[in-house]
Formats: sequence, structure tokens, C-alpha cells
Amino acid sequence: MRRAPQNWAATNMIDPGSVVTVKTDATPEERADLAAAITERLRSVMDPELGADIVTLGMLNEVLVDDDGAAVVTVALTTPSCPLRAQIDKDVRGAVLSVEGITTIDLRIGQLDPDAKARLMDTARRLAQEGATATSIPPRARILGISSGKGGVGKSSVTVNLAVSLARRGLRVGILDADIWGFSIPRLLGLDGALEARESKMVPKRLTVGSGELLVLSMGFLAGEDQAVMWRGLILNRAVQQFIEDAHWDGIDYLLIDLPPGTGDVQMGLARMLPRTELLIVTTPPEAAQKVASRAADMARRGNLRVAGVIENMSAFTCEHGETYALFGSGGGSRLAAHLGVPLLGEIPLDPDVASGGDAGVPIAGTDGEVGAVFNAIAERIATDIAPLLDASGCTARLLEVLEEAAGPARS
Ligand SMILES: Nc1ncnc2c1ncn2[C@@H]1O[C@H](COP(=O)(O)OP(=O)(O)OP(=O)(O)O)[C@@H](O)[C@H]1O
Ligand SMILES: [Mg+2]
Repeated sequence: MRRAPQNWAATNMIDPGSVVTVKTDATPEERADLAAAITERLRSVMDPELGADIVTLGMLNEVLVDDDGAAVVTVALTTPSCPLRAQIDKDVRGAVLSVEGITTIDLRIGQLDPDAKARLMDTARRLAQEGATATSIPPRARILGISSGKGGVGKSSVTVNLAVSLARRGLRVGILDADIWGFSIPRLLGLDGALEARESKMVPKRLTVGSGELLVLSMGFLAGEDQAVMWRGLILNRAVQQFIEDAHWDGIDYLLIDLPPGTGDVQMGLARMLPRTELLIVTTPPEAAQKVASRAADMARRGNLRVAGVIENMSAFTCEHGETYALFGSGGGSRLAAHLGVPLLGEIPLDPDVASGGDAGVPIAGTDGEVGAVFNAIAERIATDIAPLLDASGCTARLLEVLEEAAGPARS
């Protein structure tokens, strides 16, 4: 750890080994507030492999701010060649620059020394042991919540089609329908009937797709549509928790979670139960970027969930004569992505086949038409760039085995 120069006042201990120092003419209270704001904001930067934020993990070494609002931030990673470095780099910059009063950031990325690494391991182990949720979801699986600022934009359609495109790559993909009373996943996949249980846990329904497979859980397999409405609110989070804890998700590579519309309790619950969940935000072309962005950002901030990308749905429609109509306007997806500082993963055309495929229970992404190709391209980007499987990235993944062990039989 670097010693703070004498004319810099240490105002807030972040963690053992970390110090926030603010050089400014401000009063001690103002300095403390600014330090706290920066620290708080950096708690939203997650190490997706360890499922905890970089402040809690002790990876934030130092934050210095001078009186011009220029910040110097030092972050230490487990290994210098960490493939998640680019992501953490970007997330830290975004978080620090979003603090009011901060003008520039000089981000220094280093490596944890052996002592700090040992402390990180202790913290990660403790978190794994205390973790609110014991689940069979493999540590290497990526968890993507499909979310939006408002209803009816195509979250459920995107969830099933993306899942099919990922499965067509030979992957095993879980779909968790977290829209407890408005579930539509069973219909979209043509699945029905009751769930089976094994060892007192739910067995997701299985669907073979190409060389891959879907594993699906939805309230629709447990209750009729009228019954589910009665349960509204009360058991919402409890139901999602059971889908996470009391289910056989063994061997899945991805878990896609179809979130209910809005920004409420389910997102917050997910952040607590599965903090490594990352969000894909679905939007439509005419969305006022500002409005949706602030809702999505608010949701992510309240839940500390990282936004991994934006998908625009119901984009320009091309008729059979080859003419293109932007029926709902254009640019909503790219504006929102730019606003959030995340990539736009694709634009899915408005196409009646998406709806008819949904009605028939046969997702369009299973075919090789124009719309299928768009979903396949998004899936490829997710699998190779945005959210590749964790053991392929090999950064802290080797630590996960130890964490699993630490978590013991609870994570069976
Ligand atoms: N790209 C598309 N082209 C044409 N129709 C679409 C497209 N995407 C979705 N739809 C249709 O729009 C309607 C809403 O889609 P969907 O149910 O997937 O939205 P949602 O965001 O999950 O809604 P809710 O907020 O109610 O859960 C459905 O009838 C669906 O078939
Ligand atoms: Mg839906």
C-alpha cells in the first residue's frame, strides 16, 4: 500500500489495506462525504467470478481525489493477465466518473500481493459460506437476467429465443421464469404438465435443441394461470428463491432469467440470492433513452447488478418486397446503450414470425431465417465476448473450486 502524502487527509478506511484520501479545501465533513460517495459507487463494480464487489473483496487499494476533482484510483487484481481486466477497468471508470464532482480518473491496475490475495480468499470463502443461497447452479455458469424498464417489450420472447440460440451452440441453458404471476415461458416453448421432483428438489423440464439442451422452470408448471394470480406479491421472492435453491440446475452453462416487468422486488431479491447475475436490458426503438436508462440504471444500482448489454427488439421490419419500415422509430437501443456505457448486442426486427413462433411454442431462433440469424449472432457475441463461460476465462476461476469446497454440502 502506498502511504498517503502528508498534505492529503485520510478520511475513510475502506477495508484493511485500503485508504481513501481526499486533497481538497473542503471541510472534513465534505471530504468524508466525497470519500464515502466514491467508495459506495465502487461497491457496484463486481468481480463476476467471485460474485462480490471489488470493495468487499479488498481489491480497491486506494482512492485519491484532489481539489480539481481529479481521481486517482488503484485497483489490484488476482493476476495481471486477468481476462476480466477490461471489464473491471471499464466498470471502475464508469462508477468513479458518475460521482458528482469527479472530473477525471487516473486508474492504476496492479496485482494483489500474496497477503492481500490470502485476505481476498478468506473474504470470498466467508461469503461463500454465508451466502444466502445454496444452489446447484455451477460456479462457472453465467447468469443473465433479461430485464426492461417497462412491460411488453419482448423480454420473454428474447429469453426463449436467446436460450435456443445458445443451446444450438451445444450448450446446456437453464431458463428460470421469474415472472411468477405473468409467466409466459411454458407457452412460448410449447411445454406443459406438472414438474417432477427428485430428492425433494424440482427437476426442470428438458428440451433438446440441436446438440444442446434447455432446462426450464416456471410457475406455469406448478399452478394454473388463475391460481398464480392469487399468489401475487406474497410469495413472489420465495418462489424465485425456491427455483434457485430447490431445483436441479446441474451442469448448466447459462441461466437466463426472464424477469417480470418493472424494477421491483424480484431484481432486489436476485441481487441478494445470486449477486453475480448480470442484466441484459431489452428496449424498443422509440423508447426515450433518458427515461429507460435512468430506470434501468436505478434498478442496477439498487440491486448492485451489473448491466452487460442492451438488446433492441421490434426494430425495423422488412416486408416481403424488401422494403424496410421502421414502424416504431429507430435508435432507441443504441441511444440507451450509449447512455449506459454498455454494448448494443443486436437489433431484432419486428417480424410476425416472432409472435407466431411464440404462439406455436416453436421459437423462431430454431430456424435459419433472418430473425433466427440475428438471435444466433447475439448468442455468439454473448458466448465469446460479453459473458463467456467462466472456466474459459481462467482469471479467478481456479479459486472457485476452493470456494465450492468451503461452501460444503450446502451447495450440493
Ligand atoms: N420482434 C418481434 N416481432 C414481432 N412481435 C414480437 C417481437 N417480440 C415480441 N413480440 C410480441 O410482442 C408481445 C410481447 O412480447 P413478450 O411477451 O415477449 O414481452 P414481455 O416484455 O415479456 O412482456 P411482459 O412485460 O408482459 O412480460 C408478444 O405477443 C410477442 O409475440
Ligand atoms: Mg414476459
